[in-house]
Amino acid sequence: MTERATKKIVVKDLRKSFDGVPVLNGINLEVKTGEILTLIGPSGSGKTLTLKCILGLVKPDSGSILLDGEDVKDMPERDRMEFFRNFGILFQRSGLFDGLRVWENIGFRLSQQPGMRKRQVKAMAIEKLRSVGLSADVADLYPAELSGGMQKRVGFARAIAGDPPILFLDEPTAGLDPIMSNVINDQIFNNVRELGSTVMAITSNLLTARIISDRIAMLHEGRVVWTGDVQEAVRSENPYVSQFWNKRKDGPIQMSVSTISA
Ligand SMILES: Nc1ncnc2c1ncn2[C@@H]1O[C@H](COP(=O)(O)OP(=O)(O)OP(=O)(O)O)[C@@H](O)[C@H]1O
Ligand SMILES: [Mg+2]
Repeated sequence: MTERATKKIVVKDLRKSFDGVPVLNGINLEVKTGEILTLIGPSGSGKTLTLKCILGLVKPDSGSILLDGEDVKDMPERDRMEFFRNFGILFQRSGLFDGLRVWENIGFRLSQQPGMRKRQVKAMAIEKLRSVGLSADVADLYPAELSGGMQKRVGFARAIAGDPPILFLDEPTAGLDPIMSNVINDQIFNNVRELGSTVMAITSNLLTARIISDRIAMLHEGRVVWTGDVQEAVRSENPYVSQFWNKRKDGPIQMSVSTISA
């Protein structure tokens, strides 16, 4: 493969401030075709914002984003839309359409394809529901009728519907019990290994990071402070990775929390 073909997503020196406060301070990342890159890092370090910039939902102040070697800024609108249609996306807060039933949510992208029958879309939606441990009766419910964990799983089912070649998953296992987390971890893994998808995932769940990642990038205060594979993360003496991975309160990552004393 050429270098261009091996790099699905390249982010170079991405910067973004809000009201003069810098949040992304020059993010550099690469996601190779067919790999799972996981972003980890403390709350507020800029993980979701990086994803939103890549997806074109937030306009960065500077820096570049290359998809298949092409800068998104230079892409004609139609090519960009076409490219984005290939993305399966799970937002941190599921982002289901309240007014649509579960199966309509899952089948949303598929139903926009010409000639697609309602029956086919619903059958596919039910199959995806089953793959995330939900039964067919859930298909006719509305998102408000589901628990938080069920909404997350429906969001994941929607992301993988139609087997997209690129998946963006923001906290795919947040709020799920350990067993269900592992069902989702397996699904992510299978999507990549069986279908050859490329995945950029964000997770605060270290078990998920450990199971699914080919490579891990750690963010801190809007910068990538470390990248490596799981084995390297486990052994790393990098103070950020070591503190986060070993869940230590003390270290370079400072959380501003105050305790209320009686
Ligand atoms: N639209 C916005 N306007 C103003 N500030 C924003 C906006 N989006 C993000 N931020 C700020 O940018 C910082 C990074 O947010 P981001 O959502 O990327 O964090 P995160 O790393 O995903 O954290 P978490 O693990 O809690 O989801 C936060 O301080 C947040 O308040
Ligand atoms: Mg986030």
